[in-house]
Amino acid sequence: MSEACANGVKTAAVGAFRVLKRGGTALDAVETAVRALEDDPAFDAGRGSVLNAGGEVELDAVVMDGRTLAAGAVSCVRNIANPVTLARAVMEKTDHVMLTDRGANLFADSVGVATVPSDALVTEHERAEWERHQQYSLGVKSLFNSRWDHDTVGAVALDCHGDVACATSTGGIRNKMVGRVGDSPIIGCGGYADNRVGAVSCTGHGESIMKVTLASRILFHIEQGRSPSEAVESCLQYMAERVKGGGGVIAVTRSGDWVARFTTERMAWAAAEGDVLSYGLDPKEVIRERLPL
Ligand code: GLY
Repeated sequence: MSEACANGVKTAAVGAFRVLKRGGTALDAVETAVRALEDDPAFDAGRGSVLNAGGEVELDAVVMDGRTLAAGAVSCVRNIANPVTLARAVMEKTDHVMLTDRGANLFADSVGVATVPSDALVTEHERAEWERHQQYSLGVKSLFNSRWDHDTVGAVALDCHGDVACATSTGGIRNKMVGRVGDSPIIGCGGYADNRVGAVSCTGHGESIMKVTLASRILFHIEQGRSPSEAVESCLQYMAERVKGGGGVIAVTRSGDWVARFTTERMAWAAAEGDVLSYGLDPKEVIRERLPL
């Protein structure tokens, strides 16, 4: 699974970079990357998402445009293969920031975002894992905060105009209560983008991330003059100390400095810049290759 995740993030980063090379916007790039990750069953987003306590998928996603602070999000959608695209439609075609559940589906129909049968998003692997986890239902609260295989996906980008954007998408946490919404679609928590500072996308334990508003906290520290590495490390440390939560972050600043850090055991990440593709999985691992363009 780890190798599949590493390959998935590399493919997504290369696809997004091609969009930027053709002159596409940061927003186009993050949507392209997250769509690729939603389509990849190795991740907990789109196809491959974990199942809730009722044995269904419920998906959350957000997208944010650093130019205007426009944001769009969806939560608890069940039969949308690419929630990030629906989130972008919420941002661009409504006066609202988030649509949820049935309303999100009604909106998807009205703007022609395709729906799929919910079962099409469920892998055999996840169905088997979910059945195994039913045996642990009494321990579910501690499982929420101790298992880190939930693989929320996200992307941040800086384009040639100096605009930044972020996107995050997830199936959430296995065995979550029906209707539970995590950090991912909440702006300032699962992601934030502001041209004056940079863009952030987060993964990890949603309830912890929401309590510390992780994405906006990181950007605040960067705005105060900290480097992205210092900002991310100190905010992840703060989350660990204050609410005992683990997570991971990718961030890029308006000047193009970027960072990928995590307090979870592993997090697959990839970054494309110049003609170099960097990627990793373990905390100390950074591999560099020439970008296959
Ligand atoms: N970070 C994803 C979630 O907790 O839903």
